[in-house]
Amino acid sequence: MARIIGAITTSHVPAIGGAIARQLQHEPYWKPFFDGFVPVREWLAQARPDVVVMVYNDHGLNFFLDKMPTFAVGAAPQYRHADEGWGIPTVPPFQGNLDLSWHLIESLVGEDFDLTTCQEMLVDHAFTLPMALLWPDQNWPVTTVPVCINTVQFPLPSAARCWRLGEAIGRAVAAFPGDARVLIVGTGGLSHQLDGERAGFINKDFDLQFMQSLSTDPRWATQFSIHQLVEKTGTQGVELLMWLAARAALGPAARQVHASYHIPISNTAAGLMLLEPVAS
Ligand code: DHB
Ligand code: FE
Repeated sequence: MARIIGAITTSHVPAIGGAIARQLQHEPYWKPFFDGFVPVREWLAQARPDVVVMVYNDHGLNFFLDKMPTFAVGAAPQYRHADEGWGIPTVPPFQGNLDLSWHLIESLVGEDFDLTTCQEMLVDHAFTLPMALLWPDQNWPVTTVPVCINTVQFPLPSAARCWRLGEAIGRAVAAFPGDARVLIVGTGGLSHQLDGERAGFINKDFDLQFMQSLSTDPRWATQFSIHQLVEKTGTQGVELLMWLAARAALGPAARQVHASYHIPISNTAAGLMLLEPVAS
């Protein structure tokens, strides 16, 4: 059966794409952020995943406010990036994994999750930037399955529900025939607010407690309602739901292999974690 070899959780700020395009990785502003990925890439070189299940939130490229699924899973042979208006270069297309996509979809619907299945899907910076940070040559060595969670238009799914979605993804992967090595990536957060009176809001104490909780008390964040999460982390900080779903896919116990946290990248507290499942 397939195996989840780890989870990588990271922020996904569009400005990262500009920094990559202009090769600013070693500039003082960017260096602490990009340096965080060096140990993660070393781990990837050893871990050699075959497939990435990418848990992220679309920001208006594939879904807009007129049609907004709570949960959506890609089932396309290929996923393309496109111009989102941030002025960042597009990246090469990603290979899908139809067998794992449909297996996930059947398993999740079988567990009573209502999904939108997407046989055509554009992927935005929340998908492409983490991939470019993990594989800077953009010669993607993995197939991919996109899983979108709505954090753009209210009502949003609760943290507890996102946790259960992640658990169900973990169970589905564990029952996927074959011996694929599956990496879960969760992208969004950490605390940030791009608009309104609290634009620029960052909550370092909450972010660090949240990061620690993922290895020590992983359901900790599920105690909070969406409105409490917005209050604590900002209107876009609530993207941390992706981290929670990715962590849940690892099962009850996980150990932290690497973590970094850097304020700010653009308006965002940029966090990065690498977690490995611990057999129970
Ligand atoms: C920024 C952060 C995001 O998560 C995003 O999707 C867009 C912009 C920012 O801080 O600029
Ligand atoms: Fe975002």
